[in-house]
Amino acid sequence: MLRHTRARDRHSIAHHYDISNDFYGLFLDPNMAYTCAYFLEEETDLERAQLAKFEHIARKLRLKPYQSLLDIGCGWGSFIVHACKHYGITAHGVTLSRQQANYANDWIRREGLEDQALVEYRDYRDLVGEAQYDRVSAIGIVEHVGYRNLARYFHGIQRLLKDNGLFLNHGISRAREWRPNPGSDWISDKVFPEGEPPSLSTVITQLEDTAFEVQDVEDLRAHYAKTCAEWVKRLQRNHEACLRHVDEQTYRTWILYLAMSSIYFEEGQIFLYQVLATKRMERFAPVPLTREDIYA
Ligand SMILES: C[S@@+](CC[C@H](N)C(=O)[O-])C[C@H]1O[C@@H](n2cnc3c(N)ncnc32)[C@H](O)[C@@H]1O
Repeated sequence: MLRHTRARDRHSIAHHYDISNDFYGLFLDPNMAYTCAYFLEEETDLERAQLAKFEHIARKLRLKPYQSLLDIGCGWGSFIVHACKHYGITAHGVTLSRQQANYANDWIRREGLEDQALVEYRDYRDLVGEAQYDRVSAIGIVEHVGYRNLARYFHGIQRLLKDNGLFLNHGISRAREWRPNPGSDWISDKVFPEGEPPSLSTVITQLEDTAFEVQDVEDLRAHYAKTCAEWVKRLQRNHEACLRHVDEQTYRTWILYLAMSSIYFEEGQIFLYQVLATKRMERFAPVPLTREDIYA
């Protein structure tokens, strides 16, 4: 079990995310989404697939105008901007990357959304106070939280969510029988320090232990294998441009890391699960009787 102190997490996140926004811009889609996309068709391009992912999440969260959203681990602000523009909500995002926070707030200003959205450089553990939100999204952060802190993470979300709220956790999970191996040690050492994706059963148990009711679980493993393969292709196409922002060794390290990740998803060593949860209560949860509305 890794330590995941505040200081170590700050260091790990800066190591991974504060390389250069321009470098990330050379392989991510134009909206700078850095998690699994959602390919409605085999041939869908990455930008559309990322927008489809945001739509999928927004629909699962049943976003409605004037609702408040907390996006934990909000990256460069892509879901926040999408949700504010298309659903008229207000949003608060936190990230542990300064470069991401600056980028997200610049983007929010360019879109004229300053009255609706704010991104802060803040550890999720420092979300204290009385504020509660109608919706909480956590897209790609749970793999950074670490086994040691999972209970604290889910308790925090339980406190931050209103009683009739919805919480969506979108994150990488390792297979239950997963064991460290030379490939994963290399990724931890060079690219993703202290990454610790919890198994699905761990996520579900933690949610149950924290008085959440699990509503839906969806596996997007095939989508993530494809997303990583798309990122590799984009990096390769932009090799020269990448070298204006990082050195050759970093460039090659990233190609290898993303290619390995694609294979790990393909082989079923890792998965991507979206889990929708509500607070456990005596009345029924605030979701419709069927899931037809998501696909309408
Ligand atoms: C894989 S990125 C996903 C970004 C974004 N949600 C997206 O979909 O593009 C993970 C995010 O989690 C954030 N993160 C990791 N550990 C964190 C912590 N302790 N507190 C706040 N944010 C954290 C990182 O800064 C980063 O923004």
